[in-house]
Amino acid sequence: MKNVIITGATSGIGRELALQYSEKGNKVGLIGRRTERLKKLKFEIGDLAYVRTLDVTDHEKAEIVYQELIDEMGGMDIMILNAGIGRLQMLPPWRAESKLIEVNALAFAHGCHFAFEYFRKKDEGHIVGMSSMASLLASHRAAAYTATKHFISNYMVSYRQKAKRVSSDISITEIRAGYIWTEMTARSKGMFWVAPVEKAAKQMVKGISKKKNYLYVTKRWRLLAWVVKCIPEWVWNRI
Ligand SMILES: NC(=O)c1ccc[n+]([C@@H]2O[C@H](COP(=O)([O-])OP(=O)(O)OC[C@H]3O[C@@H](n4cnc5c(N)ncnc54)[C@H](OP(=O)(O)O)[C@@H]3O)[C@@H](O)[C@H]2O)c1
Repeated sequence: MKNVIITGATSGIGRELALQYSEKGNKVGLIGRRTERLKKLKFEIGDLAYVRTLDVTDHEKAEIVYQELIDEMGGMDIMILNAGIGRLQMLPPWRAESKLIEVNALAFAHGCHFAFEYFRKKDEGHIVGMSSMASLLASHRAAAYTATKHFISNYMVSYRQKAKRVSSDISITEIRAGYIWTEMTARSKGMFWVAPVEKAAKQMVKGISKKKNYLYVTKRWRLLAWVVKCIPEWVWNRI
């Protein structure tokens, strides 16, 4: 059984991952800002759940909270860096743009750095980053979102290289998710191949157990990834 810490566990993908991991008998450390949701989840899951209210952009507090959870759970085997925000807006105010970068890129990098240092000392572990198909493209309607997912993707490649050089058994899995029904996508229009969160989380849990470098969720998005990579910029500029 594994000890799995999940950021952004109060809703959507993170919540579903918490449920599915705990159903399999794993301990789950759950993080989010909405305390009431965490309490409910703790009630639902029971003894296998350890919860902490945290805004992941507060790095000083985050280090204390991550360590507290690890101590309470008796160690960490997998850290799933899932917390994120997203919105489609062509002309967002700077505050919204900077907040998104702070959560999706800076707090992600901080969590990844923390987990890597922890696993390096332990000599083994698994870091999972919630990227997106958006990491493969740019969009005038989601400049910060697509850029932060590209950042996650690139950062994880470098951390995979680091893991090899420090000779520790640290796996790095990037999840490139397509559209999934969650609060984030509830009001989005023009989506296709939208997966129920249960199905998406099931594929994630399975793929993570295989320690894959990249996971396309759902699987059919791998095909589109290949197509997307072939589309020249002048075509994107017209979409
Ligand atoms: N749904 C999709 O189609 C899709 C596709 C590709 C990638 N993704 C990625 O999947 C991840 C989860 O998204 P979702 O679809 O499950 O959306 P969601 O239901 O809105 O969940 C987002 C989670 O992130 C947490 N979060 C946001 N800001 C935070 C902060 N500052 N500190 C701590 N936690 C924070 C939220 O918790 P609190 O509000 O309680 O803090 C919530 O638990 C995101 O990284 C998203 O970019 C989603």
